[in-house]
Amino acid sequence: MADIEKSPYKADFPLLVGHPELAFLDSAATAQRPACVLDAQVDFYRRMNANPLRGLYSLSVMATAEISAVRKQVAEFIGARDENGRPLADDVVFTRNTTESLNLVAKSFAPTVLGPGDEVCVTVMEHHSDLIPWQQACRAAGATLVVMYPEKDGALTEAEVAAKIGPKTRIAACAHVSNVMGCELPVRAIADAVHAQGGYLVVDAAQSTPHLAVDVAELCADFLAFSAHKCLGPMGVGVLWGRHELLAQMPPMLTGGEMIDSVSEQDATWAPVPEKFEAGTQDAAGIFATGAALAYLTQTVGLDAVAAREAALVSYCMEKLSELGFIDIIGSADPARHHGVVSFNVRGVHPHDVASILDMSGVCIRAGHHCAQPLLTWLGVENLACCRASMAFYNDKSDIDRLVGGLNQVWQVFHGRD
Ligand code: ALA
Repeated sequence: MADIEKSPYKADFPLLVGHPELAFLDSAATAQRPACVLDAQVDFYRRMNANPLRGLYSLSVMATAEISAVRKQVAEFIGARDENGRPLADDVVFTRNTTESLNLVAKSFAPTVLGPGDEVCVTVMEHHSDLIPWQQACRAAGATLVVMYPEKDGALTEAEVAAKIGPKTRIAACAHVSNVMGCELPVRAIADAVHAQGGYLVVDAAQSTPHLAVDVAELCADFLAFSAHKCLGPMGVGVLWGRHELLAQMPPMLTGGEMIDSVSEQDATWAPVPEKFEAGTQDAAGIFATGAALAYLTQTVGLDAVAAREAALVSYCMEKLSELGFIDIIGSADPARHHGVVSFNVRGVHPHDVASILDMSGVCIRAGHHCAQPLLTWLGVENLACCRASMAFYNDKSDIDRLVGGLNQVWQVFHGRD
């Protein structure tokens, strides 16, 4: 077990240093940023501020080169490589967030393969971002949305996958890790099942990229989406990776500046992938800072250390919550099946009250439906809401102890001191 007594990483995070009174346990909503990421954002504007791709002068060329370097870094981060092991940077599209990336696939790719009577298969564990776009795509195509259900501990069985993915399935879309239960989904099994039917797999990796090594080849994904802000990067930068031939056949979702090959009064042709999907001026400083975030995550800390620390934190958290005697944990009782996320309820207390009382002692958790209303409905969670403590490698035991102390206070407020 990793040593989680005192985090050696908190010192790298200005907000955590500046606010030692906070126990930040909401990293699944957005991570804190290390100083190197904040510095990179400023550095872009100080040293190379020019619109990438548009200028022929050296400043703009430098900005363009830096964005291309981050594209390559992202490809390496998710294992998008050619047969010689070279990163496939051109298959990385920068968007604003995971939601936009998934909408791009549902709005641009889905209509090219979906027709009346076809099926799109998702799981009930999807974030609304990986559900509503498919509802819309099915409605537009006259297709049917089919839902896979896990066991109550989050395990999605092979039998359920086999029962729901069939000859009519053109697309399967699933989270890599659930944002509520924290469990990993059997992405490879879903990929194999949908590919056997000639369909395609879309992976929402928003909650796995901050915690696990993600490899599009191992997952056998056709598309994969994630957000920089959950991986220590800035808000407003998302990634869509897709298999090149699929991206090449897709029309753009947004049209306008810099995504064209040529334009006449009445028509236009498109630039190659990825520019075809990147209309308008992008958040170049944010993309540059995303490079700093990925370098910090993978090199300074290292994904092995991330996984080991988070496993120890989750294990300690679940042990302490169970000892309280008034907490119901959602999902598996096995900490190894929670990737950074522990959702729970305090018996008889509304999660919003729990979060507000915790906030008074500086403990930050998320409470509500977590953009996963169908999952909470299916689980039968009271009030369609739960509390969620989500951990990152920069947390330590003191954060969990503060949570536990705060929960004792919540219990005392609602149930007295006897
Ligand atoms: N999708 C993010 C979460 O689960 C915001 O909190």
